[in-house]
Amino acid sequence: MSGSLLVDNIGELVTNGIGEGPLGIRRDAAVLVEEGRVAWVGPSAHAPAADRRVDAEGAAVLPGFVDSHAHLVFAGDRAAEFAARMAGQPYTGGGIRTTVGATRAASDDELRATVRRLRAEALRQGTTTMEIKSGYGLTVADEARSLRIAAESSTETTFLGAHVVPAEYADRPDDYVELVCGPMLTAAAPHAKWVDVFCERGAFDVDHARAILVSGQAAGLGVRIHANQLGPGGGVQLGVELGAASVDHCTHLSDADVAALVGTAHSDGSGTHTVATLLPGAEFSTRSPYPDARRLLDAGVTVALATDCNPGSSYTSSMPFCVALAVREMRMTPAEAVWAATVGGARALRRTDIGVLTPGARADLIVLDAPSYLHLAYRPGVPLIRQVMRNGVPQ
Ligand code: NIG
Ligand code: FE
Repeated sequence: MSGSLLVDNIGELVTNGIGEGPLGIRRDAAVLVEEGRVAWVGPSAHAPAADRRVDAEGAAVLPGFVDSHAHLVFAGDRAAEFAARMAGQPYTGGGIRTTVGATRAASDDELRATVRRLRAEALRQGTTTMEIKSGYGLTVADEARSLRIAAESSTETTFLGAHVVPAEYADRPDDYVELVCGPMLTAAAPHAKWVDVFCERGAFDVDHARAILVSGQAAGLGVRIHANQLGPGGGVQLGVELGAASVDHCTHLSDADVAALVGTAHSDGSGTHTVATLLPGAEFSTRSPYPDARRLLDAGVTVALATDCNPGSSYTSSMPFCVALAVREMRMTPAEAVWAATVGGARALRRTDIGVLTPGARADLIVLDAPSYLHLAYRPGVPLIRQVMRNGVPQ
């Protein structure tokens, strides 16, 4: 679709840029879109003419959600494991191997259909950018095809060959790490932007994680890490040491972990800034204590929210659900949660062109069926996304 587009009559515009408060709010505003980018933001009454017009009818308009952590390439589900957890079983991550078996047995088309279905589901809930990880293949061929399929739906693709040690390597984890750092990385890297490791007891220790992440960096990939989800450990500090864009989960943090994250914070979000990405869908679905978001925010750490969408620990694609959880269960203010779900996610992906609605940004935006962003947490479980635009194109 070419030509300019004006979204006007916006009751409350979240720009995450210039405006009132941390969300940069403007009232009675309009946004002009040209060539997929925000060209102008200002008072609706003084909006320039455009080829087409969308009347927001007084509703709230926000940047689209940036979901910086999702595992969409898999087959089967683990509903029975969820039911067992709700009956008292703990989550250990051991079920990942169940999904690996199903994923290896699936055809490319089956995997592709699942990725597309979940990506479309997320889009309907306002997610305009979604990171997608591999990690349920765990052979050279299955990781490469997982990433090839992921890359059809996102430019933010992540090689997670180090999700768990697969059963056939159970008694020789060093050999598996060698495979991941060698032929698997070589096959995966052309389709991936990031490398990730599940650094946790029962998955990969700090030494293995360092070897894999350093190899990924040498192959040109950016670093992210699953760290400190199920217990304390060295993952967060390893991520900081390697200049990770994001350390994800952060449920069990020491004072030294928090201090290490604070040490990376730069006000402009550039350089070697490491974001703490919190994934409250995982604590919800594993009935675990939530991460202490207040401790991180009060210390000055940049916080992002993401879904962790996967068939085991968090089978939700809904960023509005995560915003509501963060507000109700993690004592984030609604403004902090919306910031973390938009520009926070962008920073976790080291992107400056998304998560904001300021001139020059991509015109990725959502129109709510509500007068304010507050309703995302205030009206949990209600489908409040009236319209989604990516690059200024209605979806
Ligand atoms: O981020 N923690 C490791 N990976 C996923 C869970 C994957 C699974 O249980 O299938 C997570 O929670
Ligand atoms: Fe995850």
